[in-house]
Amino acid sequence: MFNKICIIGVGLIGGSIARAAREQGLSSQIVAYGREKSAANLQRAKQLGVIDAYYFDIESAVNGADCIVVATPVGVVEQIFKELKPFWNEQAVYTDAGSTKGSVIAAAQCVFGSVPANFVPAHPIAGAERSGVEASKVDLFNNKRLIITPVNGTCNKAIEKLAGFWEEIGSIVSFMDVQHHDTVLAATSHLPHILAFSLVDLLGKKDEQIEIFKYAAGGFKDFSRIASSDPTMWLDICMANKNEIIPLIQQLRTELAGIEQMLAYNQNQQLFETFTYANQARQRFLNQFDNSMSQSITFKVQPGGSLRGEIRVPGDKSMSHRSIMLGSLAEGVTHVTGFLNAEDALATLQAFRAMGVEIEGPENGNVTIHGVGKHGLKEPKESLYLGNSGTSMRLLSGLLAGQTFNSVLTGDESLSSRPMKRVTDPLADMGAVINTQDDGTAPLHITGTGKLKGIDYDMPMASAQVKSCLLLAGMYAEGETTVTEPAPTRDHTERMLNGFSYPVQRSGDKASINSEGKLIANDIDVPSDISSAAFFLVGASIAPGSDVTLKHVGINPTRTGVIDILRLMGANIEVLNERTVGGEPVADLRVISSQLKGVDIPEELVPLAIDEFPVLFVAAACAEGQTRLTGARELRVKESDRIQVMADGLQILGVDAQPTDDGMVIKGKTVDSIGGGEVISHGDHRIAMSFSIAGLRATAPITIHDCENVNTSFPEFKDLAISLGLNLS
Ligand code: S3P
Repeated sequence: MFNKICIIGVGLIGGSIARAAREQGLSSQIVAYGREKSAANLQRAKQLGVIDAYYFDIESAVNGADCIVVATPVGVVEQIFKELKPFWNEQAVYTDAGSTKGSVIAAAQCVFGSVPANFVPAHPIAGAERSGVEASKVDLFNNKRLIITPVNGTCNKAIEKLAGFWEEIGSIVSFMDVQHHDTVLAATSHLPHILAFSLVDLLGKKDEQIEIFKYAAGGFKDFSRIASSDPTMWLDICMANKNEIIPLIQQLRTELAGIEQMLAYNQNQQLFETFTYANQARQRFLNQFDNSMSQSITFKVQPGGSLRGEIRVPGDKSMSHRSIMLGSLAEGVTHVTGFLNAEDALATLQAFRAMGVEIEGPENGNVTIHGVGKHGLKEPKESLYLGNSGTSMRLLSGLLAGQTFNSVLTGDESLSSRPMKRVTDPLADMGAVINTQDDGTAPLHITGTGKLKGIDYDMPMASAQVKSCLLLAGMYAEGETTVTEPAPTRDHTERMLNGFSYPVQRSGDKASINSEGKLIANDIDVPSDISSAAFFLVGASIAPGSDVTLKHVGINPTRTGVIDILRLMGANIEVLNERTVGGEPVADLRVISSQLKGVDIPEELVPLAIDEFPVLFVAAACAEGQTRLTGARELRVKESDRIQVMADGLQILGVDAQPTDDGMVIKGKTVDSIGGGEVISHGDHRIAMSFSIAGLRATAPITIHDCENVNTSFPEFKDLAISLGLNLS
């Protein structure tokens, strides 16, 4: 992979990188650069066979190196950059292993003017309490996360090379932006270290008089383990990231003051609730950790094959969200079957639990909601974390704007960068008080004034989330709220409100609601999600010899654009056993492979297939002739910029896909339609699954990085795809 790796700073991290690279045969030569004062450590590194040679002058060390790893404490990175600058080699890749990324980027900017394109900032989430080359281990990074924090202008080839290197030495690579990395690490790593150091400092001083350590129980040992870490390194890290750490210390002080108060005034119940909340929050964290955070998931698809069989894909995401929302506001007990047990829907479920609603399940798709009535929600104690789920955030913003208590909505990196003005602007017209970031993104701080008034709103974009948000707010507003949509969008909110006996008037492109109504509990059978079925509708269409039946799929006419578009392209899809379940049309879909042809996609179908375009682009790549999508600018503000991300990935796979402002032009090929290669999902579930399906018509394996977000909508995707015949691991 490399001819010569130069490690700058052969301590625990640098030494472990060298050992692992040698073990995997990733470089013909591994050398180190260090100061004369660390001669003993360097000599030991050589004796141990960790490095081949070491130098005290940087020019000789980096001469001929095609990979340079800065593994020094973050406090000296700027000095190292200054020393590297005269010998900077545009052909080599440079990286670092610093625990704070903002300071490293600032150092690079200060020394070079801007961050060099071939410098890839990285942070391995691995360490040990011991330091120095003696502590280095060949498997230190095995199954540990490695976070790459590219900046604008970081060269993609360099990123790919480094990501590949870290994967070879066992790491699980993921990507974050610099600021987010530092905020997250301040809370999850830096603050805990400060706490451990300060507690041991406090108790250590006391111990001089009263032998605390002699009688310390397991709790002390568990809690203080990380205080054995290298003080110099932690001094550097804490100073470099103090702007993120100081606000957390202030919050902690408030938390401790609260606990002091509870103890002083014998507030047993409050203290119990605090401990219980913490206990449950940790359990949630561990569950999440086990499910997704501990691993970054990479899909590998072997080329070719066909799909055959009969499956039922999981429940509809849009309906699952709404079942929890309306079931919670209803009077009585609502039983939901077919509920989607995936992160997005669970984020909504968790939010309502945090607002005092008793919800049992999900267990095998069954959820029981003990509704609290339209005015029965309680103020959440903490901000409501909604993960990746745009639907949760946009619908809840309307619902919560109508309450008499305050709330804060937060989400993950992707959700925190998605536009929220589309809901907060019309809500403000209704009298809602919602603070956002300057650019209109989350966190959303909602002040519950209880004083909304109805509006007549012409939606500038076709969005079911905006429509639903305003209808939910309209349930709490004085007078009538009317939403006019520029094109039909999914109408699950309107249908489900009616199912819960809440009056919503629909006429043409308008939906109206007012506050005079109540929700009566209503059992809900959630059909399979056509957006999840879409992957197999396309997969079976493009893979010769396929024959798949998808059972019990929701075919609400506001969702069936994907069937219409595929049929226009010549797909063979039969709609069987049509029936109505709980107010929603349902059918089994049988799809048999056929040669597709390129089409101009009618713009009126765009909102009806809005989530299916990533996989429809894959269909277009296999179709004969050109497919053109227009009028789909909304795709740029989904979980990722789906136009750009799909175009980039398809181009890597050799497809002629040209992104346009509001769509894409794809020139399909009937033979050798798609090549092999490595693509990144950018944390977007539908991108990950779409490229997996592309494997069916690929000429070589496709590797898809960053697939853990598949868990947000379709955790069973891998197993179901394999059961049908996709060669995915
Ligand atoms: C959804 C509406 C759509 C869709 C999203 C779910 C909903 O978003 O993309 O996945 O459940 O209302 P927009 O309203 O932004 O188009």
